[in-house]
Amino acid sequence: MQMEQKTYNWGIIGLGRIARKFADDLRRLPNARLFAVASTAQERADAFAAEYEVPHAFGSYEAMLQCPGLDVVYVATPHVGHIPNTLLCLHAGLPVLCEKPFAMHSAEARQAVSMAREKGVFLMEAMWSQFIPGVQKALELAESGAIGRLHGIKAELAFNMPFDPDWRLYNKSLGGGALLDLGVYPAWLALRLFGKPAPEQVQAAANFTTTAVDASCSFIFQYPDNRLMSGYASVEAAMPPEAWLLGSEGYIRMHARWHHTQHLSIGRYEGRELKEETMALPHEGWGYQYEAAHVMQCLNAGLRESPEMPLQRSLDLTDTLDVIAQKIGLVY
Ligand SMILES: NC(=O)c1ccc[n+]([C@@H]2O[C@H](COP(=O)([O-])OP(=O)(O)OC[C@H]3O[C@@H](n4cnc5c(N)ncnc54)[C@H](OP(=O)(O)O)[C@@H]3O)[C@@H](O)[C@H]2O)c1
Repeated sequence: MQMEQKTYNWGIIGLGRIARKFADDLRRLPNARLFAVASTAQERADAFAAEYEVPHAFGSYEAMLQCPGLDVVYVATPHVGHIPNTLLCLHAGLPVLCEKPFAMHSAEARQAVSMAREKGVFLMEAMWSQFIPGVQKALELAESGAIGRLHGIKAELAFNMPFDPDWRLYNKSLGGGALLDLGVYPAWLALRLFGKPAPEQVQAAANFTTTAVDASCSFIFQYPDNRLMSGYASVEAAMPPEAWLLGSEGYIRMHARWHHTQHLSIGRYEGRELKEETMALPHEGWGYQYEAAHVMQCLNAGLRESPEMPLQRSLDLTDTLDVIAQKIGLVY
């Protein structure tokens, strides 16, 4: 007998660019309903609600959390708001999917994880790459030994974003800079594939904007047993961002944009001859429906954290970003 699936009533905090994409993708999930939205301005909440046919619109984040029937909240504010807004939701007993980067620094991250565990409320960082079918395939191939022993990761993300000192990407008081916005992805990939123990050494260098955030940041993680990760993040350079997983017998190329790739190439050497196979792994929409679907699966199963994006990984990731920030002299 098939069990009827619960429909989850989602709320969104922070109605900017990513909130719109998430709202688009939520429509693809039959068991998800965008039920409430909250903005710092009532008129923005009303306009968003009208466009996306959302029944409840609030001009304050706190007010939305009192809305009867709300099941789960997506936090989509600038980085500095992630943990404060997550704490508000947890305090109200509401499960949270919190945008990346999880926190501004380790102490903040630990505060949210402690509160989620104390209250027994679900919390997950919205590391959407973990749930993208193309990325999942690359991880599965690398872990199954398809390219031999994994020795290296090379992952880059660079988008030339117009400079605006007030925009969250350049504004230090909002957590601006390439490392936290984009560098979080290569760092996650290294943690996901190389895991513990933590890198033996981290090296990093950065260029800074006139607003004192990193415009470009390079970092290298050195692990025991001959494993290296080279990451690059930039908001001033432009490229089709790719990631390469480098094994003893070949490579997996995660085509641009690698963090939500729909296209892999797997190259293997047979003697001196390279055989390359390509794989299309298309997905519909923007790709945010996969993380949302995973959250609902976890909630259906009564889980308080995700087995695929556990809170310990968010803590490790935040710690790693802290180390890089310290090395490049980025202090928020
Ligand atoms: N997973 C991904 O692919 C992805 C992509 C882009 C961004 N993100 C993440 O999502 C978060 C939001 O990014 P975004 O590009 O959507 O930003 P955005 O367009 O600037 O939107 C952020 C929203 O947060 C609210 N907000 C609350 N306090 C604010 C403040 N002091 N200054 C500015 N806005 C404030 C505003 O909405 P209200 O006033 O209506 O509340 C604003 O529209 C970032 O942390 C980013 O890392 C993730």
